[in-house]
Amino acid sequence: MPPTFRDRVIAPSLLAADFSRVREEVTRAIQSGADWLHLDIMDGHFVDNISFGPAMVQAVHETNDIFLDVHLMVSRPDHYLPRFVAAGSDLITVHVEAEHDVADTLRKIRSAGCKAGLALNPATPLEAALPYLELIDLLLCMTVVPGFGGQPFMAEVLPKIEAAAKLREERGLEYHIEVDGGIDALTAAHCAKSGANAMVAGSSTFKAPDMAAAIRAIREA
Ligand code: DX5
Ligand code: ZN
Repeated sequence: MPPTFRDRVIAPSLLAADFSRVREEVTRAIQSGADWLHLDIMDGHFVDNISFGPAMVQAVHETNDIFLDVHLMVSRPDHYLPRFVAAGSDLITVHVEAEHDVADTLRKIRSAGCKAGLALNPATPLEAALPYLELIDLLLCMTVVPGFGGQPFMAEVLPKIEAAAKLREERGLEYHIEVDGGIDALTAAHCAKSGANAMVAGSSTFKAPDMAAAIRAIREA
């Protein structure tokens, strides 16, 4: 059974892995109890960093079955979307702040057979997502300004998470609420209390001395 918004989902972010040993790092995440693998795609325009592209998604897809949570931090998600679908993404999240017809992109993600996510930067209010809530399977509330791993968690995002959970209830919707940036056992507890269920964690999982213990701590937080 795929997880619902009532289930805790832990998604280690590959950005914090050792890129010289990607296959082993993905295996380590799976064996440590990861539910999803989070893949950060950065184009050097939408954010000031360049990570990796569809070839990496495909390489990971071909080596195992873990659910691939692909976070597009790119200026033109509509343009690159078909390549990430073909690469084997399971969930594709696009930013509301990027330059595209958001509703059209979200519909295209779903009609390609993927789950659709919409991301909000910390400074973007929940109102920006209101026209799209029926079109999404996941709302990503960024808890850092996107671009780099290892940044401190921004607690000021918590009220937005609470409001997103309240709205979901009022509208009878079922989207996951995901948080991304500075997530560890402590900050995950605050996010879960506010209504988030999907926890992206890069540094606190891949760089932990015991990845399985780190994932367990986030799950139980
Ligand atoms: C930030 C990325 C995150 C990043 C999280 O722009 O979207 O997914 O990998 O890294 P940590 O968990 O180290 O903050
Ligand atoms: Zn991310």
